[in-house]
Amino acid sequence: MAATDLERFSNEEKRNLSLGGHVGFDSLPDQLVSKSVTQGFSFNILCVGETGIGKSTLMNTLFNTTFETEEASHYESAVRLRPRTYDLQESNVHLKLTIVDAVGFGDQINKDESYRPIVEYIDTQFENYLQEELKIRRSLFNYHDTRIHVCLYFITPTGHSLKSLDLVTMKKLDSKVNIIPIIAKADTISKSELHKFKIKVMSELVSNGVQIYQFPTDDEAVAEINSVMNAHLPFAVVGSTEEVKVGNKLVRARQYPWGVVQVENESHCDFVKLREMLIRVNMEDLREQTHTRHYELYRRCKLEEMGFKDTDPDSQPFSLQETYETKRKEFLGELQRKEEEMRQMFVNKVKETEAELKEKERELHEKFEHLKRIHQEEKRKVEEKRRELEEEMNAFNRRKVAVETLQSQSLQATSQQPLKKDKDKKNFFSLPSACSIATGRYVN
Ligand code: GTP
Ligand code: MG
Repeated sequence: MAATDLERFSNEEKRNLSLGGHVGFDSLPDQLVSKSVTQGFSFNILCVGETGIGKSTLMNTLFNTTFETEEASHYESAVRLRPRTYDLQESNVHLKLTIVDAVGFGDQINKDESYRPIVEYIDTQFENYLQEELKIRRSLFNYHDTRIHVCLYFITPTGHSLKSLDLVTMKKLDSKVNIIPIIAKADTISKSELHKFKIKVMSELVSNGVQIYQFPTDDEAVAEINSVMNAHLPFAVVGSTEEVKVGNKLVRARQYPWGVVQVENESHCDFVKLREMLIRVNMEDLREQTHTRHYELYRRCKLEEMGFKDTDPDSQPFSLQETYETKRKEFLGELQRKEEEMRQMFVNKVKETEAELKEKERELHEKFEHLKRIHQEEKRKVEEKRRELEEEMNAFNRRKVAVETLQSQSLQATSQQPLKKDKDKKNFFSLPSACSIATGRYVN
């Protein structure tokens, strides 16, 4: 078909025709319902709030069951996300419910990074879904969708204002997830204080530009109730799994010495409003908003980051092949640049090490020469000393021989004494004195 024909065909007005009889496509909505029921649903709730604020109790109260609960300690070094998945059934509808707890939230001394693990968790679920979508063989039909559909943000009922941790965390999350703020343990705050607190919280959220989830008002069937409920945000809730007898009925409540707080009594708290809005009216909208708004935003940013665009600068559809080639070239160029950088770094490092080694060698050589000189000097001195000692020894030996000779001569002379006593007596005084013999001055 020529391009002009194609244009004319697509510009043609669609004509309304009436059917002659029943065809059957009016059963399409039923087919859709039946298919969805067979397939089952998944719903994922993220609970963010400080330790012991009543997250688990509220979940148990909302779904009227007892989920696994594990008290968190106040000593977590960082916030940790703990997902738990349950299969629930109501009538013939199966719900795969995942409750994700932000364990240790608000317990660290430095809370600057408290939001980060939560953001990362949400992004990881988006990334997993995107990876599944990008696969050649996708199996989205039976894929367990773990993307977070709603974040219940538990506000501490201080009666004052929001903490900066609450504002920072909600601000970081609002473009990634549907946030429903709730005031927890609402039975611990008086009616008038609660009223003021609600107004304060809402004005703080608005002035800090935090986007919370608004119940949709575009569907006529729920527009009225949703717009009324939007005005009640943040819901002030009370949780309890304990049953108390009120009149002749057993109701879930919290019993105090001064009275009973009934969880499902709308004049006591907003629990019923929350359950109505979260589960009975807007569960599907929360799922849809997650897919069409939050996931879409994540997907767009991610694909743009990867170099994909819908149209090129000439407004022509972008070719996937071209995008791939450009990105590949970019990647290879970057790889080459990095390789060259590393090679250069390696060469510099080798040069530096070589220079250092040379310097060390020179220093060692100098040290060796110095030591050698000292050693030669020492050796020379020792030689001199040895010569002096030898000379002294020779002199001493000579003197010793002389003394020994004299001694032996004097001994001989003494042994001949009786025979020549008289003669010797005459000569005795003519001999050199004993003193001069002993000092070696006498020579034969
Ligand atoms: P971690 O998971 O350990 O962070 O605690 P959590 O936020 O799940 O709190 P949990 O539901 O375990 O409740 C902690 C305590 O608060 C329990 O003693 C509950 O009975 C009590 N609690 C829960 N909900 C409420 C409430 O609405 N009002 C009051 N007054 N106490 C509540
Ligand atoms: Mg808990």
